[in-house]
Amino acid sequence: MPHERPRRLRATPAVRRLVAQTRLHPADLVLPVFVRDGITEAQPIGSMPGVVQHTPDSLLAAASEAVEAGVGGIMVFGVPRDEDKDAAGTAGTEPDGILNRALRLLREELGQRTVLMSDLCLDEFTDHGHCGVLDGRGRVDNDATLVRYAEMALAQAAAGAHVVGPSGMMDGQVRVVREALDAAGHEDVAVLAYTAKYASACYGPFREAVASTLTGDRTTYQQDPANRTEALRELRLDLAEGADMVMVKPALPYLDVLSDVVEVADVPVAAYQVSGEYSMIEAAAQRGWVDRDRMVMETLTSVRRAGAQVVLTYYAVHAARLLAEQR
Ligand code: PBG
Repeated sequence: MPHERPRRLRATPAVRRLVAQTRLHPADLVLPVFVRDGITEAQPIGSMPGVVQHTPDSLLAAASEAVEAGVGGIMVFGVPRDEDKDAAGTAGTEPDGILNRALRLLREELGQRTVLMSDLCLDEFTDHGHCGVLDGRGRVDNDATLVRYAEMALAQAAAGAHVVGPSGMMDGQVRVVREALDAAGHEDVAVLAYTAKYASACYGPFREAVASTLTGDRTTYQQDPANRTEALRELRLDLAEGADMVMVKPALPYLDVLSDVVEVADVPVAAYQVSGEYSMIEAAAQRGWVDRDRMVMETLTSVRRAGAQVVLTYYAVHAARLLAEQR
């Protein structure tokens, strides 16, 4: 006869609930959303069933719904008109650019009822699709890009973002954003640093979501999936530069990296379940190969178990509703 019987604590839903070490709560979740200029109705994103490019009005409705569902925050991505894209990503810094307009609207309407986050990156706004500006030889120019990020941070803060999320993986981006915010009197705007952002195939559907024009890849600025300790170096730099929160991205294929970061970070750690992670679940669920709701709960629980305090996921509202049903 076995001396130890771990199965005793698995015997009923009640005892399993009692001893569960990881719990999901809607407040830990952040909903990423897309808002597109020049459309009159929300547009479906083919590779992300259930996710749309919003008009400002439909965005406000979706954001309000997320707030009602108890979701902790909203991360906004802007999609300009094709004709407004240029080499410097000008539409990203104009006060009336689509992202800044959307931020202003959400801040006015939702105020402090949510945490309003903005993607601070140029790729949605550049005609070449890179996350920065290019030099004469077509390479992403780190330091020239920093100047643009500082301008973008100010535009987003002025528009009402509570948190800006520099996601371009340029060296020194957190410092330049923090200094620009402070110098302009936006000491209260927090920086969520995309600390360990890997050059991942999992961003595939996102390219459709933001109508990206990128032809090459981002391997000269995003991290190599082969590397683990590099994430700790990026973490050290981001903390020294003033990051208020840090993020690992994608989530599920990088749980080891997430766990490493959680072990040493003394700020909240977020993880981003990205577009490809979402679409893989959707594609398999549509075929009946996996159970969607169980996949959603299991993957989100795994990301929390690895130590992420905050999880960005396109399933935020869906998961919040599933959690409400479980009560
Ligand atoms: C860059 C950015 C990307 C994502 C978030 N911010 C695209 C990229 O780095 O190529 C991807 C998010 C997702 O795939 O859901 N602005």
